[in-house]
Amino acid sequence: MRAYELQKPGRDARWVQVERPDPRPGPGQAVVRIRAVSLNYRDAIISQGRYPGLGSMPLVPTSDGAGEVLAVGPGVTRVKPGDRVAPTFFQTWTDGPRPPGGPAALGGGVDGVLAEQVVVDAEGLVHLPTHLSFEAGATLPCAAVTVWNALVSTGGLQAGQTVLALGTGGVSIFALQFGKALGARVLVTSSQDAKLERARALGADGTVNYRTQPDWDARVLAMTGGQGVDHVVEVGGEKTLPQSIGSTREGGQLYLIGLLSGAPGKPNEALVASRKVRVHPIYVGSRAMFEDMNRLITQHRIEPVIDRVFPFAEAPEALRYLESGAHFGKVVISV
Ligand SMILES: NC(=O)c1ccc[n+]([C@@H]2O[C@H](COP(=O)([O-])OP(=O)(O)OC[C@H]3O[C@@H](n4cnc5c(N)ncnc54)[C@H](OP(=O)(O)O)[C@@H]3O)[C@@H](O)[C@H]2O)c1
Repeated sequence: MRAYELQKPGRDARWVQVERPDPRPGPGQAVVRIRAVSLNYRDAIISQGRYPGLGSMPLVPTSDGAGEVLAVGPGVTRVKPGDRVAPTFFQTWTDGPRPPGGPAALGGGVDGVLAEQVVVDAEGLVHLPTHLSFEAGATLPCAAVTVWNALVSTGGLQAGQTVLALGTGGVSIFALQFGKALGARVLVTSSQDAKLERARALGADGTVNYRTQPDWDARVLAMTGGQGVDHVVEVGGEKTLPQSIGSTREGGQLYLIGLLSGAPGKPNEALVASRKVRVHPIYVGSRAMFEDMNRLITQHRIEPVIDRVFPFAEAPEALRYLESGAHFGKVVISV
């Protein structure tokens, strides 16, 4: 079967297509015929060698895929051949708090899913919402589950509250879609007016261009009557964190998720204390969160926003495209 490998991380690393033996399921395992993979910013920084805790090389990259079960090993009852599934980001985090010791994650600590077939623990599989294609299902395991963990499992988002999403990448567009489905008011920032227009078409209630309006936090405050927002999905890190805190209402919640503008470091304690902001570090989520989220997706027939689908042969170009930041929502590779 065909797969891609990251052989040596580095600034100009390029995934290499290789032949690997077809995997066979051991006890408790399932082989999944991967049909689509979606990319996350994490895949770019892993490839560039800027991500801690990488497994040994070569590594099959990417965490997010969807496909159908080909075969199961002895003792497997959770799935059967033909089931449409997605592997969970953390294969061993099923429910409750994240297990201590930091379980390995696909495409980082252990081989990922950019391959025609993968063998995984059957307990680390989730059934796809039936209305979703494999391409759409492949967008869920990292970006969408992270947003669900932040806004719902951790933050207890309630209808009528206000959410701020930074930029229009994979995580932020899920924050917009889930926020709207749950009855929230959602504000979105972007470096491009055309992307803000698309965000409004998806239901964004207020938008601000953070490039032409560097004091975007003042705009966010103005859009909330000077109060600030209830929830911030903070994906920017170093350069956005102070303004994100400044955009949060007193007692509001901020989810430390990303580092698009550099590692966030420790939030300014005086600023956090002055606004009584509750700061939550978020690291994707559990299988149970994934399944809870799928119920919302199914109920509201939410369609993940896919910017572009690349053929398998062009997987390295798909990664370059993601790195360019030209996309809106998710970038997908069909397998
Ligand atoms: N903690 C976790 O569990 C977890 C899970 C998933 C992702 N993440 C992290 O979250 C971040 C987003 O991931 P992703 O996969 O959604 O990325 P992505 O799809 O590559 O998002 C890229 C977009 O982010 C926006 N952006 C870039 N710099 C920005 C800035 N300074 N301020 C505001 N927006 C900015 C841009 O949107 P515009 O073009 O609209 O300006 C850009 O197109 C990454 O740092 C990733 O590592 C963490």
